[in-house]
Amino acid sequence: MKQDPRFPNLFITDHPLIQHKLSHMRSKDTSTRTFRDLLKEITLLMGYEITRDLPLTTRTIETPLMTIDAPVIAGRKLAIVPILRAGIGMSDGLLDLVPSARVGHIGVFRDPETHQPVEYLVRLPDTIERTFILCDPMVATGNSAVHAVDVLKKRGVTDDQIIFLALVAAPEGIEVFQKAHPGVKIYCASLDSHLNDHAYIVPGLGDAGDRIFGTK
Ligand code: URA
Repeated sequence: MKQDPRFPNLFITDHPLIQHKLSHMRSKDTSTRTFRDLLKEITLLMGYEITRDLPLTTRTIETPLMTIDAPVIAGRKLAIVPILRAGIGMSDGLLDLVPSARVGHIGVFRDPETHQPVEYLVRLPDTIERTFILCDPMVATGNSAVHAVDVLKKRGVTDDQIIFLALVAAPEGIEVFQKAHPGVKIYCASLDSHLNDHAYIVPGLGDAGDRIFGTK
């Protein structure tokens, strides 16, 4: 896991497999099907990293040979919350990893003029003693990411209950995010160079939603 001195709560998963798969995703010649498959594979690998600190407890089970106190995940239950629509490309991978997780949805789109998030849907499981993994492949301006965390915090979810999982981030977006929510950990596979005039991440991979769903 790599860190950038500018952003104390940003963690960059620099595993070679993740970097290799991300490079394929960036290519404009990669098909929709392959793009989607790679995103799911990367999310599984990142999910493995970000769930590393989940607390364990023990449960008594009987093996064919004896009774043991076997380790099982303890405490807080998990909720996976994709930010629609591109976040869905990541929540599928996370659900394969933790099939019993609850799934919420936060629907925001980016106003093409102002680049500000406009909310159109919020559906969440109960928030008591739950860890929330918010996912959105692209943190560009950071506005949607900040908004999604605001939505959770308004419902009483605390910083330490939230993990933000992204694929590619722009420094401008991470700055906005860390100013608004300095206590929330954010993970990505790459911190890219910058945003262009249309708030696209450079070099990036284009519009993640369009590439996942094959739309234009
Ligand atoms: N959203 C995307 O899908 N891509 C970008 O580069 C920026 C925002």
